[in-house]
Amino acid sequence: MISFKEIKRAANIVMNSCGPADIAVILGSGLGGYEEEVLDPVEIDYNEIPGFPLSTVPGHAGRFIVGTIAEKRVLVMSGRFHSYEGYSMDKVTLPVRIMSLMGVDTLIVTNAAGAVNTSYKPGDLVILEDFINLSGRNPLRGKNLDRFGPRFPDMTHAYDRNLREIAEKEANKLGISIQKGVYCYMNGPCFETPAEIRMARIIGADLVGMSTVPETIVARHCGMRVLGISSVTNMAAGVLDQPINHEEVLAVGESIKAPFRKLVSAIIDKMPASRIQEF
Ligand code: HPA
Repeated sequence: MISFKEIKRAANIVMNSCGPADIAVILGSGLGGYEEEVLDPVEIDYNEIPGFPLSTVPGHAGRFIVGTIAEKRVLVMSGRFHSYEGYSMDKVTLPVRIMSLMGVDTLIVTNAAGAVNTSYKPGDLVILEDFINLSGRNPLRGKNLDRFGPRFPDMTHAYDRNLREIAEKEANKLGISIQKGVYCYMNGPCFETPAEIRMARIIGADLVGMSTVPETIVARHCGMRVLGISSVTNMAAGVLDQPINHEEVLAVGESIKAPFRKLVSAIIDKMPASRIQEF
């Protein structure tokens, strides 16, 4: 279990390098490169943050980029941790707790996902309305960190209604077609079986993926407002009579980048003015 003290120490190091932020954006596979939108960026490499997993590839550790987008102080997280990589839930969600201690109160979490809902198609963007956690894991398991939030946090509004409305409105204004749906979290790393996808559909899922839910749970525990947006990179297993190919998933993710970037920036533009005057 990670302690409050350890998280605070890591947060102080990031704050000393980068300063505070109001909004954080976690970049999923469909939104790589979004850090280029940040004006006057200050970066910190994950290798410099205590408690972060060490990257084995030099120069390829993830990083936090903090700066300005639409006159807001935004932290962009480039490189996220997944539980299928072998990381504990503590490690997967440490960045979110650090963000909370840096003043972040609004989190935009993005991902690439498979479509369970057969009316979706590859290339669609989807505003998350809710999630189903089928991983059997929960990042809040263990002694509660009372400094962040309560033992039994409410998840009725996991994804903030107001932010969802802003996202939908901005997508419509930009002429970007947008869906709304429920995200089902699986551990991975194998893609699901067709039977698992049929089950996910029966229990109310529209999308399936291997990220986002641990971060959402911890962000809600910290009291953040959360907006989740998925890019559909493929039809989930068994929807089409063909195997899922990771290269195709990446290629579709790449093709969605431009509208996805535009949408996220338009949403940030509509957020309340920065609370941070000076730092
Ligand atoms: N399943 C799980 N995760 C995914 C998928 C999928 O089909 N596509 C992209 N991420």
